[in-house]
Amino acid sequence: MFFHTISLAESKFLFTFASKFEIRHQKQNNMKNLDWANLSFGYMKTDYNVRCYYRDGKWGEIEVSSEEYINMHMAATCLHYGQEAFEGLKAYRCPDGKVRVFRVKDNAARLQSTCRGIMMPEVPTELFEEMVHKVVRLNQEWIPTYESGATLYIRPLLIGTSAQVGVHPSKEYLFLIFVTPVGPYFKGGFASNPYVIIRDHDRSAPLGTGIYKVGGNYAASLFANNLAHEKGYACEFYLDAKEKKYIDECGAANFFGIKNNTYVTPKSTSILPSITNKSLMQVAEDLGLKVERRPIPEEELATFEEAGACGTAAVISPISYIDDLETGKRYDFGAQPGPVSKKLFDTLRGIQYGILEDKHGWTTVVIE
Ligand code: PLP
Ligand code: COI
Repeated sequence: MFFHTISLAESKFLFTFASKFEIRHQKQNNMKNLDWANLSFGYMKTDYNVRCYYRDGKWGEIEVSSEEYINMHMAATCLHYGQEAFEGLKAYRCPDGKVRVFRVKDNAARLQSTCRGIMMPEVPTELFEEMVHKVVRLNQEWIPTYESGATLYIRPLLIGTSAQVGVHPSKEYLFLIFVTPVGPYFKGGFASNPYVIIRDHDRSAPLGTGIYKVGGNYAASLFANNLAHEKGYACEFYLDAKEKKYIDECGAANFFGIKNNTYVTPKSTSILPSITNKSLMQVAEDLGLKVERRPIPEEELATFEEAGACGTAAVISPISYIDDLETGKRYDFGAQPGPVSKKLFDTLRGIQYGILEDKHGWTTVVIE
């Protein structure tokens, strides 16, 4: 038999190890029994959502609800005049057992910009953050395992609720956040997909609401998106609405191209300022690439070595080729993701999952 008296240091180490194991074990045990690795990017009911009402010119207390439905007046401004805005971010269950959220303050700031754009009261950053943290903690059993590659999608929604038929901003608003576990936005995850330039439909105008995250932009994109799918493409690709000369967005994602060790992405007044794109520009710079944000004429597509679509849902969705049906041109970037896109993807994901150093302070631990 082998006896060993453990030292204080050893016992401390064992205790810390055991309690860390215990905490992780408990967390895993408290999770829903789902097929995490095979989730789609779809809606699934979770346990709670959080709500806050704006009345008499001020925001009220945060309320927790387990109700999926909203009881609303049929004349609410969000239903008739599109006074609604949303956001999208994710919570990641990390290999160290913690749960992190990514750049929450940036989503709060973008929502505030949207609020100014369509005359809604701004949701204060602290309220936004508190509600995000609360809804993630309340639904922690629904946060997918690290190994599955799935995440918890967080959907903040702001709607005008006052009953009126005149076209004016609402007086009352509901801000709510729900969460739902999601798998990859595109089936196949980090794999290249074909896109198609659609010229006869615009999702937004140069001085319109394209820079805001309002539902109307997405309604405006449905026809073109459906057309692209019917023709066998993953997504539609927009040129600027005024001149049809420059690249705007790819479906619900920003575009970037890579050439000569440079990350190039469009500067346009009709695209959503993507937080993923902003992060990738920084990561590219950190990795020693040059970064250019400027108008990109369509012909320049022919010069890129790699191209991708970027957004919260997919991080990067590499583009295999872009067809311009009007001119018959095909811009080819290869059937497999390129090395720079892969490096950018791995680095950003590494930061989101707490594996790589978060030197820009982008992540927040919500559950220790
Ligand atoms: N562009 C549009 C139109 C979007 O809907 C999204 C998704 O939110 C993006 C770009 C990407 O933005 P983000 O990286 O902040 O998710
Ligand atoms: C994204 O997160 O990249 C999106 O495009 C969100 C989409 C579901 C609206």
